[in-house]
Amino acid sequence: MFTEKIIEEQKQGQALITEIKKENSKKLFIESYGCQMNLNDSEIVAAILSDHGFNTTQNLEEADLVLVNTCSIREKAEQTVRKRLEKFNAIKKINPKMKVGVLGCMAERLKEQFLEEEKIVDLVVGPDAYRDLPNLIAEIEAGRDAVNVILSREETYADVSPVRLNSNGVSAFVSITRGCDNMCTFCVVPFTRGRERSRDPESIIKEIQDLSDKNFKEITLLGQNVDSYLWFGGGLKKDFKNASDMAQATALSFSNLLDRCASQFPKLRFRFSTSNPQDMHLDVLHTMAKHDNICKYIHLPIQSGSTRMLERMNRKHTRQEYMTLIDNVHKILPDCAISHDMMVGFCGETEADHQETLSLMAYVKYDFGFMFAYSERPGTLAAKKMDDDVPLTVKKRRLNEVIQLQRVHSLYRTEQFLGKTVEVLIEGESKKSDAYWMGRNSQNAVVVFPKTNIEKVGDLVHVKVNTCTSATLIGEKIS
Ligand code: SAH
Ligand code: F3S
Repeated sequence: MFTEKIIEEQKQGQALITEIKKENSKKLFIESYGCQMNLNDSEIVAAILSDHGFNTTQNLEEADLVLVNTCSIREKAEQTVRKRLEKFNAIKKINPKMKVGVLGCMAERLKEQFLEEEKIVDLVVGPDAYRDLPNLIAEIEAGRDAVNVILSREETYADVSPVRLNSNGVSAFVSITRGCDNMCTFCVVPFTRGRERSRDPESIIKEIQDLSDKNFKEITLLGQNVDSYLWFGGGLKKDFKNASDMAQATALSFSNLLDRCASQFPKLRFRFSTSNPQDMHLDVLHTMAKHDNICKYIHLPIQSGSTRMLERMNRKHTRQEYMTLIDNVHKILPDCAISHDMMVGFCGETEADHQETLSLMAYVKYDFGFMFAYSERPGTLAAKKMDDDVPLTVKKRRLNEVIQLQRVHSLYRTEQFLGKTVEVLIEGESKKSDAYWMGRNSQNAVVVFPKTNIEKVGDLVHVKVNTCTSATLIGEKIS
């Protein structure tokens, strides 16, 4: 799973040319690292620039502007971006007219420092300042460096219709919140993406309608913490708490939004990511149970199985509360898959804490997971106040144990599908063989099966599962 995450991160490569405007004469090469939110942000950036003379290109050599949408979550993510910038530097030597910009979390974290450290960078733009890109590009075209890293309490890019980059034409991301207010002590996201804001539901519905009209079949609602979505007219939640009862009475929660999406678009399949256990309430589970077109899959990061560590991390729930939530998921949604994020080696983690992580995993038997070793991030509370005291070798060993255990559980989960028939949305050809289709079932398991002549990408088909690995179900189409 760990390696899969890395592959996924590498795969988030360059943009496909999906929308060409004839009047546009300049070429934009945009590359994204990190989370799904970053991919979606790159689509927003491509849309903003498409109205200002740029079409996207996959050919780096012909680009007038190269933008790298960066990730700061772990040190390694930042190193990957720095290496990439070295490559752009080499190309810039051949094509000095090419401009290079850094977007996203690293831009926000390092600000002007970027211009000094990485001499080839012309432009530094944080996640809330993309509307300013056309002005900033005019600045660099006039020979000046340009920086905008102002974070906003309002910006949701609600009215921007993203250019679908890298899309298979079947599934698309729709952002519903931006930022995060949770302040987990290890995490840089609240500093790089700012305060949490929810997006106007009308603009969400409009975007989904547009995707439906374009024949998309699956929508993933995105946010750092989707379950805390709350629409009451915009702005921060803190302000809402002081607002009138009237506003409270008309507020729209995440389960309301999900219910509305699933009811209004019965032909579309819905997913969402990410849920934070402290904000996931039973009403969301009941809404999932009510609608066949909401996929039975929840990504529910925990980070550690030890209540002591959860407290140090400022996660606002205990091991026991999490286990109760898992019990409720199984009770209300018996066929629901669950995945996790787990972070080993956080400050002060003992062998006993680690054993609690392993025993929690054994309790849940997750379908899959994303697993990491703690990496100290400058500016976070953990970096300021806690000692990064677990040696790297210990972190690596614990990570390996968690990965190995997850493999066992993933296989246990995929084996439960053997002999059963699953509904699969075809996303494209299997990477291993063009004689096979690849898709996912409701539980987000990857399913491959031999092509017959009639089905096509975007079809929902029934596949009988004959064999499996820990990551893939293999079967044959029955209808
Ligand atoms: N709520 C977010 C979490 C974003 S970060 C979401 O939408 O997914 C994704 C994961 O990266 C976290 O759940 C955590 O497991 C891991 N992570 C965050 N900060 C980290 C750090 N400093 N070192 C290692 N892993 C980290
Ligand atoms: Fe980070 Fe915790 Fe928010 S992991 S994104 S601060 S929920």
